[in-house]
Amino acid sequence: MAILLRKPPAVRSDEITDPAVYRARRQFLRGGAAAALAGLLPRDLLAAAARLKFSKGPFSTDESKTSLKDVTRYNNFYEFSTDKSGPAKLAQDFKTRPWTVAVGGAAEKPTRFGIEDLLTRFDLEERVYRLRCVEAWSMVVPWIGFPLHKLLAAVAPTSQAKYVAFETLHDPEQMPGQRGGLFGSSLDWPYVEGLRMDEAMHPLTLLAVGLYGDVLPNQNGAPIRLVVPWKYGFKSIKSIVRISLVSQQPPTSWNLTAPGEYGFYANVNPKVPHPRWSQARERRIGEFRKRPTLPFNGYADEVAHLYRGMDLRKYF
Ligand code: MTE
Repeated sequence: MAILLRKPPAVRSDEITDPAVYRARRQFLRGGAAAALAGLLPRDLLAAAARLKFSKGPFSTDESKTSLKDVTRYNNFYEFSTDKSGPAKLAQDFKTRPWTVAVGGAAEKPTRFGIEDLLTRFDLEERVYRLRCVEAWSMVVPWIGFPLHKLLAAVAPTSQAKYVAFETLHDPEQMPGQRGGLFGSSLDWPYVEGLRMDEAMHPLTLLAVGLYGDVLPNQNGAPIRLVVPWKYGFKSIKSIVRISLVSQQPPTSWNLTAPGEYGFYANVNPKVPHPRWSQARERRIGEFRKRPTLPFNGYADEVAHLYRGMDLRKYF
């Protein structure tokens, strides 16, 4: 009797896991392993962080999720490229370890947090949010992260803290878009963003460290980025290195570049067109038909009260 023994087909790891995700995980593990070797991180802590333990969080939409491929291949990350497919390629070797986020300003306990600390200090949650870009496309993304208010509480804001300012890494050596010239955009670097204190403290406002069950791919803003689901995507600043509590409304990158087109608030509003196009409808990436855009991107019940009495045409 001849038993035919067949070798199982070779399965490359990149056939199981999206390459962007396994690359991010590999880099994460490399950085983490180095820290463990240097005695900076207990092994069990390292393992916990590498797996990103998370529970299901509140506010998740049950709409179908945008595919992992689209979420990680169709990006706006001008530090790498102004072309949507550019960041996935050009951010592959972006170093996200070691990484610290300095949180300070009007705070009693200003602190510089290491990223491993941030991954383990707060309970991580999965939140499936709609993301509506100002360019009239949208996605549904299963983020993993923790609410920003937990981090702010840890530094004890003073009564002077009226706004929160955010800053992305400035590293032209790693980020070709920051070098100007051929690869440059009209933005000034570093990319900066801001929120009013009550917006920052709102339970929907998330600091994301992962998506689709794994660490954040570089092109999506690794190792830590903001997600403010009721505002246009440009508020969701990537690869954050500094968070400052401030008393005055801080400058924001797109508002500095084109103040008539991009306001500080940037709340999703189908009734206020961009000067060059309508914001009434949007195309969900992966779909052909357009769908109506909802006020506050569908989160009006949760956030409309923050803007009661404000003229949203003036404060766009
Ligand atoms: N953050 C930085 N630092 N640089 C950027 O170019 N683009 C913004 C935002 N955050 C951007 C950024 C814009 S316009 C959008 S729509 C979202 O990131 C896109 O996030 P995604 O690539 O994860 O979909």
